Amino acid sequence: MSNEETQPLLACRNVFKYFGGLAAVNDFDLDVFPGDVIGIGGPNGAGKTTFLDVISGISPATSGDIALNGTPIATKKPDAICHLGISRTFQLNAGFESMSIEENTLVGAAFGLGDKGWFPRMTYNREMRERVERALVLCNLQDKADMVVRDLPVLDRKLLMLAGALATEPKLLLIDEPVGGLNPHEVDDVMEIVQGLIKEGVTIILIEHVMRFLLQLSKRVVILHHGEKIYEGDSEGLLNDRKVVEVYLGEGTADRLQHMMKNRAQNG
Ligand SMILES: Nc1ncnc2c1ncn2[C@@H]1O[C@H](COP(=O)(O)OP(=O)(O)OP(=O)(O)O)[C@@H](O)[C@H]1O
Ligand SMILES: [Mg+2]
Repeated sequence: MSNEETQPLLACRNVFKYFGGLAAVNDFDLDVFPGDVIGIGGPNGAGKTTFLDVISGISPATSGDIALNGTPIATKKPDAICHLGISRTFQLNAGFESMSIEENTLVGAAFGLGDKGWFPRMTYNREMRERVERALVLCNLQDKADMVVRDLPVLDRKLLMLAGALATEPKLLLIDEPVGGLNPHEVDDVMEIVQGLIKEGVTIILIEHVMRFLLQLSKRVVILHHGEKIYEGDSEGLLNDRKVVEVYLGEGTADRLQHMMKNRAQNG
């Protein structure tokens, strides 16, 4: 393999994030390769969102190294990190309430392309509109482009955030709890959409408490507890890991998920 093939897209080494005396992220290492889908799980307060905040520059690391394609980004600002190729969604829905789905996504496309002028860009060019069209199709929002955000149900708001992030055409997409608060049918809808992104080759780090979503989509799973990585590996190993079962899943959930994974394997 050449160097290019072996170099991680994202490399995190000895990353710490302190809030006062609390190590929300505690000596965390992670390599993400192109095409990876990394699922991050763990109890409430484990440091999952903080880790995404650190990577995306919203809340810079206290110490440690983070590199995107070999470029150090740990001290860069969120806009610079976005322009280098990392975009994200948030755990709580965020959108411009009085604007349409299309207008919101255009903001993502314009931001992702980077405004080199002195004044914020007031017009949208063809490349931005094409990015929006692609992002809306990927998120199955193309028929709702004119709907105004304040009128949208939760599912569409979540998909809109995803579309806005995709419109920046990221090298790495960070998704924080994309199905939190959704019903099982809606979870399936989002799962199908993320599967589509994976097919397109989008590299993803996703956080989720809904374990069937996390396990079915992730190529590698990481479990955090008190800011530390207590597990990294495949879904099967996760369900047999004593510490993960003890601090996070519990016996009942682990058994139920084992059955689900077995049925899935049998049914192809
Ligand atoms: N801005 C902040 N100031 C102080 N403490 C914070 C801040 N943000 C997060 N924390 C603390 O850091 C720890 C990790 O929080 P974080 O939100 O990353 O957890 P999480 O794993 O995403 O949890 P959840 O599953 O509930 O979303 C928690 O103890 C939290 O209270
Ligand atoms: Mg969180």
